[in-house]
This record gives sequence, C-alpha cells and structure tokens, in this order.
Amino acid sequence: MISQVSGRKTKLLLSSDEISKRVSQLGREITQDYKDKDLVMIGVLKGAFIFLADLIRHIKLKTEIDFIRVSSYKDAMEAGEIELLTDTSISLKDRDVLLVEDLLDTGGTVDFIRETILSKNPASFKTCTLIKKKKMREDDITVDYFGFEIDDKFIVGYGTDFAEAGRNLPDIFVIEKEDG
Ligand code: IMP
Ligand code: MG
Repeated sequence: MISQVSGRKTKLLLSSDEISKRVSQLGREITQDYKDKDLVMIGVLKGAFIFLADLIRHIKLKTEIDFIRVSSYKDAMEAGEIELLTDTSISLKDRDVLLVEDLLDTGGTVDFIRETILSKNPASFKTCTLIKKKKMREDDITVDYFGFEIDDKFIVGYGTDFAEAGRNLPDIFVIEKEDG
C-alpha cells in the first residue's frame, strides 16, 4: 500500500490491527506487573497521545495520567538538543511511574526525561515505548516494555509525525528515501 505524507512516498509498516493486538498485550502485561502498585502513566507529548489513549484502556488498575513535553527534533528528521517544554503537574513522590513514549530512536529523549522524573523521587520508574529502533544505544538505555522493534527507518502515523503531518494515520508507515 503506497500513499503520501507531505509529498513523500510512504509504505505500510504496521497495520492498525497489528498495533491494537500488541497494545492490548502490553496492557495485560503492565496490569499484571503493577498489581497493588500506585501507578501513574506519563505520556510524552505529542507523539505518545494516541498510544497512551489506547494503552490505558487495557490497564485494569486504578491509574492516573499526566503528560510531559520536550522538544527533541529541530526539523523533520534530524535530532536537535533536548529541552523541557512542559513538566508534569501531579506529585510523583513515592508513585510508581511508567513513562509512555511513541518511539525510541537513540534513546536520548527518554534518558533526559528519566533524569527529570527521578529528581521528583518516585517509588519506581519504568519506560514503555510502542516502537524501538534497533540502532538504539543498548549499552546505557533500557526500556522495560516495547511493542515493536524496527530497523532504522523514519516512520509516521499513529501519533508519530513527519514535520507535524500524519499523526492522524491509523496505521504506521515508513517514509521512503527520496529518489536520486
Ligand atoms: P530519540 O531521543 O533519538 O530516542 O528520539 C525520540 C523522539 O524523536 C521520539 O519521541 C519521536 O517523537 C522522535 N522520533 C524519532 N524517530 C522518529 C521517527 O522515525 N518518526 C517520527 N518521530 C521520530
Ligand atoms: Mg516524541
């Protein structure tokens, strides 16, 4: 299936069906692991808003949500310096915090957010990402839950964007390399 986002060719990578099956599995796993815990799920804006919305409906526990916003991408595909734009607003002290990301590329964003959240003294801190790229710096970045592991390609859809376009696509697509 070929379509276009911002004038670039795209190719289907993960269908909404595959995504929803995997998201419900992750929800069951997290529900099991956080039994009797004081769970707070923190979504990383903007990319994780759809994943978090779907995932939370598979969490059969009392849970609260909050959001954090960082800037990480200066232009469409190149990583820039990370900056905290909007911090969390509820108290995280002694809470069991699960950070929910759309995707981990280098892992730098999650690393930065981990430091921010640990400074608020949570009881525990774990990370969950829908997608993890294989080239991630495995040595010092750990992710506790992930939906899919993919090759080093630029993707769009299901909350993730290409220069702010394509977040509303129900499936996930790879942005194809430009010809020539
Ligand atoms: P990292 O800091 O290199 O791990 O980059 C993570 C952030 O960059 C994610 O929160 C995404 O929003 C964004 N990002 C990285 N790769 C892609 C991609 O392939 N498509 C869309 N956004 C991406
Ligand atoms: Mg993001």
